[in-house]
Amino acid sequence: MNHTPAELTAPASLLHLDSSASPTEHSVSRQLTALFANTWRERHDTAGYRYQYRDLAAEPVPLVGPGYVTLGQRLAAHGVLPPAQVAAQVQDPSEEQEWALTLPLIQEVLAADTLLLGVPMYNFAVPAALKAWIDRITFPGAFTDPRTEQSLLRGTRVVIVTARGGGYGPGTPREAFDHQTSFLRMYFGNLGVAEEDLFVIHAELTRAGAVPALAQFKELAASSLATAREQLLTLATADPRQSEPTERQAAASLS
Ligand SMILES: Cc1cc2nc3c(=O)[nH]c(=O)nc-3n(C[C@H](O)[C@H](O)[C@H](O)COP(=O)(O)O)c2cc1C
Repeated sequence: MNHTPAELTAPASLLHLDSSASPTEHSVSRQLTALFANTWRERHDTAGYRYQYRDLAAEPVPLVGPGYVTLGQRLAAHGVLPPAQVAAQVQDPSEEQEWALTLPLIQEVLAADTLLLGVPMYNFAVPAALKAWIDRITFPGAFTDPRTEQSLLRGTRVVIVTARGGGYGPGTPREAFDHQTSFLRMYFGNLGVAEEDLFVIHAELTRAGAVPALAQFKELAASSLATAREQLLTLATADPRQSEPTERQAAASLS
């Protein structure tokens, strides 16, 4: 593919999402995503960058409503339609309102070359605040190149930071209870994010300092946190693969 000079010099871009209901001083996932974001910004400071932040817990994305579903189902019947052409298909005010809530979120994802997600484990899964965002952005055709039918997220790096009160590592008694990691891996893989661009970093046993029954795991908790910090620092200073930034950014600006 031929890149224009402007495309080749597009600044690095990070979309940072937090979903913990706790404020930063009490939230492990928020502290870890902040560590990544601050390090990433320092690294890109000289060359310039685009940074977008959303606090999905403090400012929740509305749950999808009937207009979202009817619009999505009608468009899915047409095959792939890029976001730029969706507004012309809107048939009533409810669909218009739903699309107005949805399009900016899709554009933010398309414009980013790194997605950073802070994800506490709530009831063995992801917080409802994050799920609401996922349900809304996953609109038919939003991340598919209409010319090639390939994913526009091929080349997007996704860094997921989980925090969980218990331990769910391989071989532990509660390994099978972890519906957070499997869901997120499957979700982003299905959207077209390459496996080598998908990073899931865990801080485990975060409640060990506060829950007496978990006190025996304090050292493991400290070591899990230290490893998570190290991994995030490495990722934040690494060069992300940027195989197809131009299609993503073109789609974002067209929409
Ligand atoms: C509503 C709620 C549900 C939770 N469910 C689980 C759970 O199923 N398993 C677990 O290990 N920890 C669970 N926890 C503990 C959190 O995962 C843990 O405190 C984690 O550090 C939260 O992320 P944060 O520190 O970024 O807020 C839950 C906490 C809350 C508030």
